[in-house]
Amino acid sequence: MTDQPMNNGGLVAFGIDTTRPSVARVYDYALGGKDNYESDRELYRQIMKIAPETPEWAKANRRWLNTVITWLAEEAGVRRFIDAGSGLPTAENTHQIAQKVNADASVIYIDNDPSVVAHGRALLLDNDRTQFTAADLTKPEEVLADPSIRDLLAAGEPVALVMALMLHHIADYEQTLDIARKYAAALPPGSYLAITHACNPGDGGPVDVLVAELLENVKDAFPTLAFRSVEQISSLFGDLEILEPGVVPLSEWHVPGGRVEDEHPTDIRDAIFGGVARKA
Ligand SMILES: C[S@@+](CC[C@H](N)C(=O)[O-])C[C@H]1O[C@@H](n2cnc3c(N)ncnc32)[C@H](O)[C@@H]1O
Repeated sequence: MTDQPMNNGGLVAFGIDTTRPSVARVYDYALGGKDNYESDRELYRQIMKIAPETPEWAKANRRWLNTVITWLAEEAGVRRFIDAGSGLPTAENTHQIAQKVNADASVIYIDNDPSVVAHGRALLLDNDRTQFTAADLTKPEEVLADPSIRDLLAAGEPVALVMALMLHHIADYEQTLDIARKYAAALPPGSYLAITHACNPGDGGPVDVLVAELLENVKDAFPTLAFRSVEQISSLFGDLEILEPGVVPLSEWHVPGGRVEDEHPTDIRDAIFGGVARKA
């Protein structure tokens, strides 16, 4: 861990290790962001040799997030959001998307990466309907006991819990299942759970080959990264009702009753799947 202050766009924070890549910063670089270091960019260059569609995956994920949050705020009437594993602030963050629909919408962001915590708190200083909680999402009991989250859930109003590209950073499947189900169980009736996740279809096709090569190359930097089958990803929703079109590649996802809006390049190997479920 370097103890050097980070000086990035005027923001100074301690405790950030710039010598090792961080998932949040590599992803930020893939999205064209500036909050990254040479260690992140070096890993990204390696990833690009294997998966040149990486920036398309990242952009498709952010488009999905925008579509889902807008639909939840506009059509489903959700006013309370938890963005768990929020990542570094980017062009349009969950509170900006939701508040465009409903100025009253509030968001609690959660992440455990020190870079995200520093930048997230700085971004949110000027918005009194957002909060940032630094927490490890693999410890649901601790996260759910956090006063801001506990009070939000105790209020009983439907909440949208978004876990975008986060649960695949937990290596053990049974543990991931347990974690997802604990969060789902804590949500008030009428709440929503929205997940995107790295997927290995396991059909012997081009994505299987890609995933194997990718995992081999990032295992030192991201040892807990896990691509999972569609069935496994679907099970993360527990007994919540998965809305149409189900757990599908992001290029095929559309809002319930709607249609696909994505202008998705046809030569992209789809390795990111997503779905939205509602708690009765
Ligand atoms: C690839 S980024 C995704 C960011 C954002 N959710 C999105 O989809 O655009 C994954 C984020 O999950 C966070 N994360 C991974 N494991 C976590 C954990 N155990 N607790 C909290 N955050 C975690 C990382 O720090 C990173 O910011």
